[in-house]
Amino acid sequence: MAGPVLVFDSGVGGLSVVSALRRRLPDVALAYACDNAMLPYGVREDDWLVARILAVCEAAVTASGCSGLVVACNTASTLALEPLRERLAVPVIGTVPAIKPAAGASETRHIGLLATSATVLRPYTVRLIRDFAGDCRVTRIAADPLVGQAERLVAGEAPDPEVLRRVLAPLVELPDLDTLVLGCTHFPLLRDQLAEAVPHPVRWVDSGDAIARRAGQVIASPQRRPARELGWVTAPTQALARGLAGFGFADTRRLTLA
Ligand code: DGL
Repeated sequence: MAGPVLVFDSGVGGLSVVSALRRRLPDVALAYACDNAMLPYGVREDDWLVARILAVCEAAVTASGCSGLVVACNTASTLALEPLRERLAVPVIGTVPAIKPAAGASETRHIGLLATSATVLRPYTVRLIRDFAGDCRVTRIAADPLVGQAERLVAGEAPDPEVLRRVLAPLVELPDLDTLVLGCTHFPLLRDQLAEAVPHPVRWVDSGDAIARRAGQVIASPQRRPARELGWVTAPTQALARGLAGFGFADTRRLTLA
């Protein structure tokens, strides 16, 4: 089906993946869907989350007529990729923490994972670390406050440097950690501010480009980019509509769940 590629997240984090998709697939039509009414996902119960993610993605896939779905959310992907693939008729591409490239790049063999509390604890994440970073020390840091800071940034407000410094404080004791995985799609939006707040320089790794590459391979014949692209949100606000417009989604609509 020739529809847009739909990018889904709890909030604005998926826009970091939108940037990667625009770089790699500049002529492809995108649509954006977020469940901002229930943000943040990273501190919610698994069973509730699975049901909610299925309901929102099903509604957004139908509303957008998309040719494929990019789940641009580590918290959702490490939990709900299988049920999403069972339920939806379009190809589904997930986002999981970039542990493998980080382990490949680290010289000190000590890497960090910055993600939501849900993602750092998931069995999926534990398996990724076991399978791809078996010879590394991996320090997992729950960084939920960064989600709100990225939301602020896209709404046009400066993030609070104190919050960023507090989240990164464990690194003061870990001078040999040389590579940090941004395992939540909100965090690459804060890359410049994080680089200023980090106690020592690190290599930053995220999944954006790998997802964009995969989307190009998997989604057969997506629509060409039209003049206006749509954003679907569960709780419309002017600030969010402005933020989405800044990434090309000029029209924002309310997503209604069945
Ligand atoms: N952007 C989402 C992720 O990649 C999570 C943000 C949230 O907690 O809602 O995990």
